[in-house]
Amino acid sequence: MSLRELTTDDARAVQRIYSSASVLHLPRAAMEGTEAQRFVERAVRCARETPRTHHVLGIDMNGDLLGIIKLNRTSTNGKLSYILRDDAWGCGVATAAVTELLVLAFGVLGLPVVTAKHHADNAASGRVLVKAGFSRTETTGGFVHYAAEPGSADRPRLGLSRCSTVVPAGMRTIPIPTKGRQ
Ligand SMILES: CC(C)(COP(=O)(O)OP(=O)(O)OC[C@H]1O[C@@H](n2cnc3c(N)ncnc32)[C@H](O)[C@@H]1OP(=O)(O)O)[C@@H](O)C(=O)NCCC(=O)NCCS
Repeated sequence: MSLRELTTDDARAVQRIYSSASVLHLPRAAMEGTEAQRFVERAVRCARETPRTHHVLGIDMNGDLLGIIKLNRTSTNGKLSYILRDDAWGCGVATAAVTELLVLAFGVLGLPVVTAKHHADNAASGRVLVKAGFSRTETTGGFVHYAAEPGSADRPRLGLSRCSTVVPAGMRTIPIPTKGRQ
């Protein structure tokens, strides 16, 4: 598993990720082709901004784009969110991706806290966050909120993958963004 920058060639793969199944607990509809094209173009633009406030990265498994993970920086924290293609659920991919993005957030980016949330009906997403080192903070408006601080990602509660193709976080082959591309 690796996190990588998106390119404009990823539009079709991004559209496949935002299927009706995957957006079930999100306040949005499944993605259409034009929106997917705009999405990847925006992600490419965000990657060029200085200072960089939006990281919109692909979750890549051997060249197959399985999901999208985002980190939006404010002056005081980072907000993490992700979405995974429905045929990749249950293999630990999202868990590995969240763990990897926390390494970036607390390492190169030096953020003091990263927050995340999921719809109260999406318990599996809560498990993903907790396994990656997040702690639950509150439940409001039908969403469960979480926070992680430096150090929490050092003790991820990762289990062994139930899918043989999944490589644990930390064994990525494509580098995530480094200093100078912030
Ligand atoms: C969260 C999701 C992306 C799976 O990610 P993943 O990295 O493959 O998940 P993992 O296999 O590492 O872990 C999922 C955990 O949720 C648990 N789980 C699965 N379904 C569950 C449910 N209905 N209730 C409670 N826990 C559940 C699994 O048992 C597992 O926990 P465990 O390792 O302690 O057994 C997927 O289940 C999901 O919710 N998809 C919805 C669309 C999406 O992308 N959502 C993103 C957040 S809005």
